[in-house]
Amino acid sequence: MRKKTQLIHGGIFGDEKTGAVSVPIYQVSTYKQDGPGNHRGYEYSRTGNPTRHALEELIKDLEEGKRGFAFGSGMAAMTAVMMLFSQGDHVLMTDDVYGGSFRVITKVLNRFGVEATFINTSDLNSIEKEIKENTKAVFIETPTNPLLKITDLEEVSKIAKENGILTIVDNTFSTPYWQNPLTLGADIVLHSATKYLGGHSDVVAGLVVVNDEKLGNDLHFIQNSTGGVLGPQDSWLLMRGIKTLGIRMEEHEKNTSEIVRFLSGHKGVSKIHYPGLENHPNHDIAKKQSRGFGGMVSFDVGSAEKAESVLNKVRFFTLAESLGAVESLISIPALMTHASIPAERRAELGITDGLIRISVGLEDVEDLLEDLEQALEG
Ligand SMILES: Cc1ncc(COP(=O)(O)O)c(C=O)c1O
Repeated sequence: MRKKTQLIHGGIFGDEKTGAVSVPIYQVSTYKQDGPGNHRGYEYSRTGNPTRHALEELIKDLEEGKRGFAFGSGMAAMTAVMMLFSQGDHVLMTDDVYGGSFRVITKVLNRFGVEATFINTSDLNSIEKEIKENTKAVFIETPTNPLLKITDLEEVSKIAKENGILTIVDNTFSTPYWQNPLTLGADIVLHSATKYLGGHSDVVAGLVVVNDEKLGNDLHFIQNSTGGVLGPQDSWLLMRGIKTLGIRMEEHEKNTSEIVRFLSGHKGVSKIHYPGLENHPNHDIAKKQSRGFGGMVSFDVGSAEKAESVLNKVRFFTLAESLGAVESLISIPALMTHASIPAERRAELGITDGLIRISVGLEDVEDLLEDLEQALEG
């Protein structure tokens, strides 16, 4: 099945019993048993719910893995994955991961004895150098947020396998429509499904797919034990959003390439971060491992004042955190999504105060271009 067909026909299609073409919302917490311990596959909705199960099957198929899991948010998904590790374990993480991922590791999971080293995972040598005796995984975001850095997933997975550690990939920016980390050798892929997968700014959710039964059993044990599951209504909304992921991603990318072309020729823009640009340092790797470059761009307008003035002037770019929805969104990472990263560290990473991040939506691109033009004036 090709990707666009899989988005519609993957997982569990409709309802066998009634012929309904969408999976019913099983708004239920518990299930009648035919005898003590003798149930029909479902006993309690934290453990399993048919609507959530349909979503979990769908994301499993889309990521070409063995088991899928749905959580109440991307952060709940990430935390559940990190609970595979124990006190004294160590993970390597991409240095400009989403601020919330940095925060949960350095302010929450550290208190349980899981430590992390943040490194530039685009540099393969630094991965090999930083693997310690207690390192259990390398956690990668590619493209990264907000600098759109690219890590070579095939090469990192190879290094990880040689060293007996797991490769975990946050695939939020690319989505399974453009990139499938498990097929490149990764062990676990996760998503903030709040973003492109949902696509309409109306649901907060997280998804995980693993490529191994043992990891699947371990993660189900954690999901059931800690309970951060996604409810049936949100599972259904997410499945509805996923059906149009293909056409949305194609359109996001088309609009983005026009905007990147416009920004590249603008004298008020000093730097553009977009993996689709031929001068992006890892353009070739992005091309090799992904079928598209996505709808996220960040660019530098030189100062915090200028960035704030652009944000105040735009009409069709909504000033908001988050990304990946039908409406274009604009933000200043240093003040918003990445404010939880200390200022010195942001400076080290290149997340300047004048950096603007846009998530290009599905409006008419001519309106978006005119809007950016007037906002960058002066
Ligand atoms: C790349 C990435 N990963 C994870 C998350 C966390 O997801 P959620 O907000 O659904 O908890 C985000 C949120 O912005 C993100 O951008």
